[in-house]
Order: sequence, then C-alpha cells, then structure tokens
Amino acid sequence: MKNIVVLVSGGGTNLQALIDAEKSGEIKGGRITCVISSKEGAYALERAEKNGIKTVTLPRKHFSDNLAYSKALLRILDEQNADLIVYAGFMTILDRIVCDAYPNRMINVHPALIPSFCGKGFYGLHVHEAVLEKGVKLTGATVHFVTAECDAGPIILQKAVEVHQDDTPEILQKRVMEDAEWKILPKAVSLFCEGRIKVVDEKSYIDL
Ligand code: GAR
Repeated sequence: MKNIVVLVSGGGTNLQALIDAEKSGEIKGGRITCVISSKEGAYALERAEKNGIKTVTLPRKHFSDNLAYSKALLRILDEQNADLIVYAGFMTILDRIVCDAYPNRMINVHPALIPSFCGKGFYGLHVHEAVLEKGVKLTGATVHFVTAECDAGPIILQKAVEVHQDDTPEILQKRVMEDAEWKILPKAVSLFCEGRIKVVDEKSYIDL
C-alpha cells in the first residue's frame, strides 16, 4: 500500500473526492495517510478529521520565505514516509528542493487544460475569470507531475469541459470541478499507486 499525503489550503473538495474514491475502492494500492494544510482553519482539515485521517497544519505565514517553508514541509513529508504527494487545491509555492526530493512522485490538479491558462497567477477562480475573458469555448482540468517550473510537469490526465455563454467564474469553476477535477484526480492517483504511469523524456505514459 502506498502512503498518499495530500496538501491542501482551502475547501478541500478535491480531497473529498479522493476520500470518497478511497472508500469506494476506486483507488487501488494506496491510502491517504496524512493531510497537510498551509492555512489554519481550512475546511479541508475538517474533512480529513471526519474521516479519521491524520492532519498537520503548517501555516505559510509562520515562515519568512519559501525556502524555510519548504524545508519544514520536506521534514514532515519524510516523517510521513510519503510515497505520493498530491496537491489538492494547495496554493503555496514551494522551493524546488521539495520536487527534487520527490521526482515524479508529486501530482497537482489544475483547473484548466494546460498549457492554457496556467503558470504564475493562474490559480483558483482567477483561472476561470481568464477563460471567460478570452472567450474560449472549451476548458477543463489537468493532472500533472509537479516540477520546479509552475504547472509545467508531465501531464497525466486531462478532461475537457464546455464553457457556456452565460457562465460566471463561479458557475464555470463548479462545472470544471464536478465534471473534470473530481473524476481525473482520483483516477490519476490510482494509476500512480498501481504503478501504471511511467515518465520518459518529460512525457507520461499509462500502461493500459
Ligand atoms: C480547485 O479548483 C483546484 O484545481 C484549484 O483550486 C481549487 C481548490 O478547490 N487549484 C489551483 O488553482 C492550483 N493552481 P478545493 O480546495 O475545493 O479542492
């Protein structure tokens, strides 16, 4: 069984999707052993506690810079014997020492079809605002490995979602979460835990 550590900062609906998938047996070969939040009082922590999952709060604001924060986080990840680290709405930028310590073992869910609407400044609702501003007709979600470059690691899974003319950023965010993020994140986590993803030349391939 692989130890899955989930990093959160907010509401934790993606964490909930992972918890539900683990309960229903959709995640094969892994279990969520710890949830770490970069924000005190994040609702995601309550979701973990309700399900008997160990939680750690490591507030970003208690640290002077990214490097100090990343070193502290790395210590916890090592203590937890993490096999897989999942960014599930984790909004804190980390120093590269973290992804260098866990190469191709950290995955992130991003609420758009990378390489569109990603990188610095594209997070949470801002992504959906930018999508509506541009007027694209399709958006979606991407699960990818985390590398030192923001939102640029090997893509594991993507799912497209239609943009409607009368969408608000909030309505679009909800559709992207329900129709894409909550589906592809548990799927990617299971594929990883089953050992079915390999990365060659910065591209990922799935054993079908
Ligand atoms: C999700 O839409 C996730 O994709 C996004 O923040 C939201 C968190 O929701 N993450 C990013 O934008 C990271 N770049 P949640 O806390 O309910 O899972």
